[in-house]
Amino acid sequence: CGIVGFVGREEAAPILLDGLSRLEYRGYDSAGIAVYNREKGLQVEKAKGRLQVLCDLVQGGSTVHGTLGLGHTRWATHGEPSDVNSHPQVSQGGRFAVVHNGIIENYVALREFLQSEGIRFASQTDTEVVAQLLEYYYDGDLLEAVVKTLSRIQGAYALGILCADCPDRLIAVRKDSPLILGFGQGAHFLASDVTALIKYTREVCYLDDGEIAELTPDHLWVYDSYLRPVEKEHHHVDWEISAAEKGGYEHFMAKEIMEQPEAIRKTISPRIQDGRVVLDDLALTARDVAEMDKLCVIACGSSYHVGMNAKYILEKLLRKPVEVTLASEFRYCDPIVTEHTLALVISQSGETIDTLAAMREAKRLGAKVLSIVNVVGSTIARESDGVLYTWAGPEIAVATTKAYSTQLAVIYLIGLYCAQLLGSIPQDEYDGILSELQAIPDKMEEILENRSDIQYFASIYFNHPSMFFIGRNLDYAVGLEGSLKLKEISYIHSEAYAAGELKHGTISLIEPGTLVVALAGYGALFEKTMSNVVEVKSRGADVLGLTTHSRAAEMAKTADHVISVPDTHPLLLPSLEVVPMQLLAYYVALQRGCDIDKPRNLAKSVTVE
Ligand code: G6P
Repeated sequence: CGIVGFVGREEAAPILLDGLSRLEYRGYDSAGIAVYNREKGLQVEKAKGRLQVLCDLVQGGSTVHGTLGLGHTRWATHGEPSDVNSHPQVSQGGRFAVVHNGIIENYVALREFLQSEGIRFASQTDTEVVAQLLEYYYDGDLLEAVVKTLSRIQGAYALGILCADCPDRLIAVRKDSPLILGFGQGAHFLASDVTALIKYTREVCYLDDGEIAELTPDHLWVYDSYLRPVEKEHHHVDWEISAAEKGGYEHFMAKEIMEQPEAIRKTISPRIQDGRVVLDDLALTARDVAEMDKLCVIACGSSYHVGMNAKYILEKLLRKPVEVTLASEFRYCDPIVTEHTLALVISQSGETIDTLAAMREAKRLGAKVLSIVNVVGSTIARESDGVLYTWAGPEIAVATTKAYSTQLAVIYLIGLYCAQLLGSIPQDEYDGILSELQAIPDKMEEILENRSDIQYFASIYFNHPSMFFIGRNLDYAVGLEGSLKLKEISYIHSEAYAAGELKHGTISLIEPGTLVVALAGYGALFEKTMSNVVEVKSRGADVLGLTTHSRAAEMAKTADHVISVPDTHPLLLPSLEVVPMQLLAYYVALQRGCDIDKPRNLAKSVTVE
């Protein structure tokens, strides 16, 4: 879900709607705003569906007047998407309006308690409990009511609170869910994500767990949970507003795919000096690396797939064991971690709750935590021992592309840096990989220039009911991402398999006409993968092959169609191979008329478990 709040001297509604439009990728089941003015009191407008439905309802904000308000875009957890379950949630007496990200875990017990006190509930949401509790405890002191309410609720939350009795101020609180405060001219803002604010201000501070903020047009106070004042550090945000706009592209995803070469240049260039990788921000000494017993990669979704690549890449470069675990599993699998373990946490948003929780667990068990994060100042970045930022800029499309590519680029930097500290690869190999890494953006550009070839394949295959992605080693890791990209935006059933594993079950699903995307870029295993291609061909599959230019002709002898990428060092292939996979998913979804940037049921930043 996304939260935005404004208190100032201008009309709040247009600012809230604009902020929500930049947060819609966080959830789009429903949206709502609450605006206060002295004559009309609290005006709450909510609508199920996309933000546009709400915008139409309030005519772009022109029907609700007031200089103080809250907005919310929802990804439903408790209570189906509906007008009544949308936020803001309002207390029975109409005094409090609340927007919330997260889950109030003990809401059932609290709801029963409040009902026994005669309070009637209008929605099925956990959030309404917060609004009702505030009203229940309120006796003229807003902050006291907030503190009492917080002492009763358990779970994760970022809350924006508006009280009709205090119409000059907003309250913001957080626990395990991000919340950012923005400083404007005679105005203050709150938001779950910096993209909602950058049009209005670049000066921000990050609320920490347990803190309470009080915002008026001219002042911003932050308190701890005992209402003692807290001094907050101000941060300046560098992102350009244009980076969060489509800039002529039909979809953010298309724009972000095209931005990848530049994003990789920005991510790697400052970290390569005099033919060496320099990672001052890594916080790892040569001794740490030498004593490292293993690396635990922790991540979700596509970031996890980067982790799958990292296993092959880092084991090869460092000869140290690399375990890759889904963050949602890590915490509950009694992980084996020592003080010599390096936990490598990968997250675009830096806020994914499962990843954050797993990272805290790794830290508790004694691991040193290094994170790869895109959003500066995010919780994961702030809680890690060291952070390597991906300089991809804001990523808006729900399906990640440039964040994946830049995360992968950082994996190469880490691999090379640690390999040099360890002396685990010869100098000429180090030099070769480094110069190939620097050539990746240009080679990616070549693939992007020829994207119409992939558009052509998409026009042939877009109606296939299911697709399989097969490959070995790094090709398998890229296949996992190709399959995820395709299913998340085109809704075509798809699965990725290690090619050698096919014959242990999946091959029974291959019928005449089934589409198999065979990734065979990894030269050492080309022949092996091609045997699997022959196996599926002989059962009637259509095969779309992906390999390097130098092997394209060979592959075309067996596959129905071949896409090829420039040759490079084998370890760097995923950086190139993933691009045609992204383009294939994009063009297939385009042909099918899907909502590419906001696929159904998904959200970009998942801040609930
Ligand atoms: C969501 C997004 C995915 C993303 C995953 C992890 O599921 O839709 O694209 O890979 O979260 O997000 P993170 O921000 O931690 O990389």
